[in-house]
Amino acid sequence: MLNHSKLIIYPFLTFFYSYVLFNDAPENWQLGFQDPATPIMEGIINLHHDLMYFICVIFIFVSWMLSRTLWHFEKTQNIIPSTLTHGTLIEIIWTVTPACILLIIAIPSFSLLYAMDEIISPAITIKTLGHQWYWSYEYSDYLNEDGESVMYDSYMIPEEDLDLGQLRLLEVDNRMVVPINTHIRIIVSAADVLHSWAIPSLGIKCDAIPGRLNQTSMFIKREGVYYGQCSEICGINHGFMPIVVEAVKLPNYITWISNKLSE
Ligand code: CUA
Repeated sequence: MLNHSKLIIYPFLTFFYSYVLFNDAPENWQLGFQDPATPIMEGIINLHHDLMYFICVIFIFVSWMLSRTLWHFEKTQNIIPSTLTHGTLIEIIWTVTPACILLIIAIPSFSLLYAMDEIISPAITIKTLGHQWYWSYEYSDYLNEDGESVMYDSYMIPEEDLDLGQLRLLEVDNRMVVPINTHIRIIVSAADVLHSWAIPSLGIKCDAIPGRLNQTSMFIKREGVYYGQCSEICGINHGFMPIVVEAVKLPNYITWISNKLSE
């Protein structure tokens, strides 16, 4: 029997799934990317798709060549072997063709690489420090009456303290809060050993190296909560120092930062 309420609801659900709900945390058995929230991550996904085209064509061509070769030059099929050892034309073709493919790939790849490296006059600078085993964030653009900047630690919420709906091994007690549609500079360093500050949806993976400042930037296009993890083996609790970035509208960010300053 036709269920009319389902008929009405499904197009809306489809709309919701494809336009409103975003995947900014890993899922079980996930193969693809998380949804992009920055232009850089969109670029990374597009480059991946471009490369997949070439990879598929090459894979099909090489498999076809290999199977044809194995079939036709097998000893029962081809009793008298050819004495041919080389042919100039074919060698030119199979050298130049891959070189051209690499050149075609290099163009979008380099433009993305330079785009990722570009720091566009940032409105906010946030310092991220990796520790064994937690992250700490410092908003040094703002000072309170005592001349202190906003600085806090961000620890993973242990499994037994999780609330319903919170993500295991990914939720933290104090998130990094940032405004959307703003150029933000992130300065990454470490206090003890190597760590790496990585968030898939934002297209960021920046090594945190003791005694060195690494710089990256982000421009988040939509509100959301973005989950990431430390991505450099840093000791026993490497898997337990997740990263959570909460992107909010600018007025909400201003409220948040002024509350933090008056704490
Ligand atoms: Cu910190 Cu791995």
